[in-house]
Amino acid sequence: MTTPGSIDDVQDLLAGEGYVCGRALATVVFLGQRLGRPLFLEGEAGVGKTEIAKALAAGLGRRLIRLQCYEGLDAASAVYEWNFPAQMVAIRTAEAVEGTDRAALTDELFSDRFLIRRPLLEAMSPQDGGAPVLLIDELDRTDAPFEAFLLEALSDFQVTIPEIGTIRAPEPPIVVLTSNRTREVHDALKRRCLYHWVDYPDFDREMAILEARVPEAAAALSREVVAFVQRLRTEDLFKAPGVAETIDWAKCLLALDVIALSPQVIADTLGALLKYQDDIARLQGSEAARLLEEARAEAAPA
Ligand SMILES: Nc1ncnc2c1ncn2[C@@H]1O[C@H](COP(=O)(O)OP(=O)(O)OP(=O)(O)O)[C@@H](O)[C@H]1O
Ligand SMILES: [Mg+2]
Repeated sequence: MTTPGSIDDVQDLLAGEGYVCGRALATVVFLGQRLGRPLFLEGEAGVGKTEIAKALAAGLGRRLIRLQCYEGLDAASAVYEWNFPAQMVAIRTAEAVEGTDRAALTDELFSDRFLIRRPLLEAMSPQDGGAPVLLIDELDRTDAPFEAFLLEALSDFQVTIPEIGTIRAPEPPIVVLTSNRTREVHDALKRRCLYHWVDYPDFDREMAILEARVPEAAAALSREVVAFVQRLRTEDLFKAPGVAETIDWAKCLLALDVIALSPQVIADTLGALLKYQDDIARLQGSEAARLLEEARAEAAPA
């Protein structure tokens, strides 16, 4: 697939991969492609930030390269490392064999053969089928020094390995950064990117997502599920359910052959939706029944 020529094309492309994309997000994706700018997506957990990179890669027929961020992530794990154990084995083997060319071995030790390519180097290397999609996932989990390093890597799309030289991306990768906003990412990095806050979907969009992801669910049940989840998100919870939870819950209900929600069914399956005991405790007793009633009233076709 060639690059999408319009915002509608982006929506169609993502829809083809089962990703339901609102106009605002599609616009940012389109502009990112057009201008060659990284996308910076922030939002609550389970709203589809990671999935958009996957859908984009699949839709464009590009390779997806994922850099999962975590506390303490450093350049070695993000860019490249020398395969030290393999180098040691090569040295020992050479020592044991008479007449080995020592100089050639030294060169060989720092060649492609002993290089472990980590995601950033991989993304800068030429790929069959065009520039890959580089997903830098959960950036807020790393620290400021790594962010500064990333800023540089993303500004010139090249990596220098002293022993080998500079590797430059023939065509810049399509970069998607995500954050759950557990901390603010530095302005300098944000400035390079196009920003989008991925919000919880509204009722209609969440229905469309369920239709795409759990097509075997009957529309009547999906309506109840979505209405209930939407209602639940307006409650004062420690952790509101994301789209991932809606999908999980619908699958659980299907597995139990549920055709309509009831307070009992909700109480029994709440673990698919809420992951904190305090939140679950809040919904015990008559609370679930009240929310269900309100959800039904809101979702009733006019
Ligand atoms: N708009 C959407 N269309 C289709 N599926 C979606 C959409 N949004 C979310 N999903 C589904 O919800 C699930 C969670 O999405 P994803 O993992 O991308 O969330 P996330 O925002 O990256 O969450 P986290 O912050 O926890 O990593 C995925 O299985 C995805 O298929
Ligand atoms: Mg994610």
